[in-house]
Amino acid sequence: MSKRAAAAVLAGVMIVGLSACSSTGGSSDGKKPGGKLVLGFAQVGAESGWRTANTKSVQEAAKKAGVTLKFSDAQQKQENQIKAIRSFIQQKVDVIAFSPVVESGWDTVLKEAKNAHIPVILTDRAIDSEDTSLYATFLGSDFVEEGKKAGDWLVKEYQGKPGEVNIVQLEGTTGSAPANDRKSGFADVIKGDPKFKVVASQTGDFTRAKGKEVMQAFLKAQPEIDVLYAHNDDMALGAIQAIEESGKKPGTDIRIVSVDGVKDAFTAMSQGKINFDVECNPLLGDQLMELAKKVKNGEAVERRIKTVEGTFTPEQATAALPTRQY
Ligand code: AHR
Repeated sequence: MSKRAAAAVLAGVMIVGLSACSSTGGSSDGKKPGGKLVLGFAQVGAESGWRTANTKSVQEAAKKAGVTLKFSDAQQKQENQIKAIRSFIQQKVDVIAFSPVVESGWDTVLKEAKNAHIPVILTDRAIDSEDTSLYATFLGSDFVEEGKKAGDWLVKEYQGKPGEVNIVQLEGTTGSAPANDRKSGFADVIKGDPKFKVVASQTGDFTRAKGKEVMQAFLKAQPEIDVLYAHNDDMALGAIQAIEESGKKPGTDIRIVSVDGVKDAFTAMSQGKINFDVECNPLLGDQLMELAKKVKNGEAVERRIKTVEGTFTPEQATAALPTRQY
């Protein structure tokens, strides 16, 4: 947390009937101190290393850009995010940004924001509403592409090798854009070869604890697992614990492909425990502040801004580890 944010928290975190809602400066009625832009940001939660890095990026960028940030942590519950957005509307913030826990069910509250003339920015995750007038822009990754990259790696890895490849999949939060898209992108690529079989697929809710728990169940139910595809690194890291406790070697007995590219996963890769990682960049803060200023000023912004990301082999991850920011 920034010094200024910490000071604001010490001075008394503003509680507005939400699970966790704090403000880096600003007053509880949303008045703009010294004409500063007030941004209400409804975060998903703190479910993963990726999310923690994303929150830090947004908080630091707000401080740097002189934006008053009203921050809410929804603890992975859509109802908490809806409450947070309603509270931001009541406080008459200048701009609302949020990373939707799930894709559907946003029209009502976003219409309320629209009626209050408060522009909305989707960050990190998309919604499935047909009414695209409900938000100004969407800044974030292409999750379908990430799933495809994971599938491409697998296809290459097993090219020319005979026999079936039994895959277990740890899905992200049910109904979330990254879970839906990473699953479909991956499925699209592997469907071209019948030797790839997804023998079990279940949600691990993007958390380490759930990833471990579900992997333990997979290991009990599936006699032959060749590959684990995890929709994020935290679930992969939890699954690694389960695999090791079962007496198997992650990365060797069960090959692992994951998504995110967080430091802990790179460490696991340097130890040979994860075989391939698809990057999902959480450092969206600076772009978000720039966009918030533009939409507040009525300037034109692109409807869709995609994050630039790569992929990592164990060798590349090991080399990147010393300077990895998250
Ligand atoms: O929406 C991005 C995803 O959400 C990240 O892959 C995951 O780690 C997070 O919880």
